Amino acid sequence: MPAMSGPAPPPTPRGLEGVVATSTRLSHVDGAAGELIIGGYELAELAGRASFEEAAHLLWRGRLPDARALASLRREMAAARRLPAQTLAVVRAAASHARPIDVLRMAAATLSLDLDDPDGVSPAADLAAAKALTARFPTIVAAHARLVAGRRPIAPRADLGHAANFLYMIHGVEPDPIAAHALDTYWVTVIDHGMNASTFAARVIASTRSDMVSAVTGAIGALKGPLHGGAPGPVLEMLREIKTADRAEPWLRRELAAARRIMGFGHRVYKVRDPRAEVLSRAAEEMSRAELRDRELFDLARAVESTALRVLEEHKPGRNLRTNVEFYTALVLQSLGLRPEQFVAMFACGRVAGWCAHVIEQHAEDRLIRPQSAYVGPRGLRIAAPTQPPARAQTSTRTKVANTSRTGSPRPRKRRSTSSLR
Ligand code: ACO
Repeated sequence: MPAMSGPAPPPTPRGLEGVVATSTRLSHVDGAAGELIIGGYELAELAGRASFEEAAHLLWRGRLPDARALASLRREMAAARRLPAQTLAVVRAAASHARPIDVLRMAAATLSLDLDDPDGVSPAADLAAAKALTARFPTIVAAHARLVAGRRPIAPRADLGHAANFLYMIHGVEPDPIAAHALDTYWVTVIDHGMNASTFAARVIASTRSDMVSAVTGAIGALKGPLHGGAPGPVLEMLREIKTADRAEPWLRRELAAARRIMGFGHRVYKVRDPRAEVLSRAAEEMSRAELRDRELFDLARAVESTALRVLEEHKPGRNLRTNVEFYTALVLQSLGLRPEQFVAMFACGRVAGWCAHVIEQHAEDRLIRPQSAYVGPRGLRIAAPTQPPARAQTSTRTKVANTSRTGSPRPRKRRSTSSLR
């Protein structure tokens, strides 16, 4: 192995843990206190009390809207819900063989096609793109769900709120207000969350003066991984496998003995219970009160949660692995009639408003994000001298013509087995 040389690299926190990458007015996560502030409001103050459209306005414009501003934002977003034909064509083409989050990524990329200023990075261009993206994400997810089920997509309705309209487009009936409120609460709860991986990805893209649609499309790619937004699907599968509270402990111990992670627990920043888990556990409980079958799942989840916390503390003492947002997300979303493979796309429908706000903020800052890396590879390597000079090409003009097809593209050559050509 070649010798390493040069000065020792500076210590780099793995996964940039603890590194402050930028300043933001949008949200703040205090992992030790279990605190999440969104645009100046504690999560518990905002979620369930402000609608998703109000929270989006808060992030995009820096304040909650008054009645007129809210009515105008609702009108504009409702008018933007319908998908352009090219976007619907992508959803149709991908419907049978792509997962909802991948369909969303592909379809999101087409949303620049009908923007007036798709490459614009001005506040006006950003705001227009933010409204269009946020308004259309649920339409994409709902249209895909309908097509997968062999049904026709349902056109959005402008007279329904953002969450109620999504449930209408996916199920074909006007939703119960409790269900619409639960979804609205979920989307507000996940709307923004400090410098998480997908938001960072969006900001890096935006920092090159690239456009909003590119930044948001990249962010979807970062969100879909199981260590970020892809956990709630597996949480539900875990609860279904465990089935009854008495089976939780052996199941969890088996997983940990096999060095597998328990989904819905642990967080890079929170070392206490994720405040979003608190809000969503209340929303899940409200939903479960309305339906008896969900009550059983909710009770099982509570039992699994307390067992997991005990077993994790025993297995990884001092790591403070606590319940994260994804655990109760799984319960809320399944009680709305959604399937596990749709969960991460649902997360994106909420987080998109936060990504857009960060892109607006990053464009205003207008500073390229370009960190350095500590090189730990070898130096001074040399290319070994070739043992024989390469054989010269001896193709004559006539042979060249003969080797070219009528279309002008070269024909595949027959392999010659003379040793000089090997
Ligand atoms: N189950 C079992 N062990 C765990 C878990 C878990 N859920 N989470 C962390 N650990 C262990 C690690 O194996 C590690 O052990 P070690 O120190 O003996 O090697 C220790 O706890 C610390 O883990 P890290 O990997 O340093 O934690 P990190 O901050 O990188 O990870 C993460 C955070 C990715 C969320 C992790 O806790 C995890 O994988 N959780 C399960 C997936 C999940 O729920 N993801 C959703 C997160 S919320 C969100 O993104 C919206």
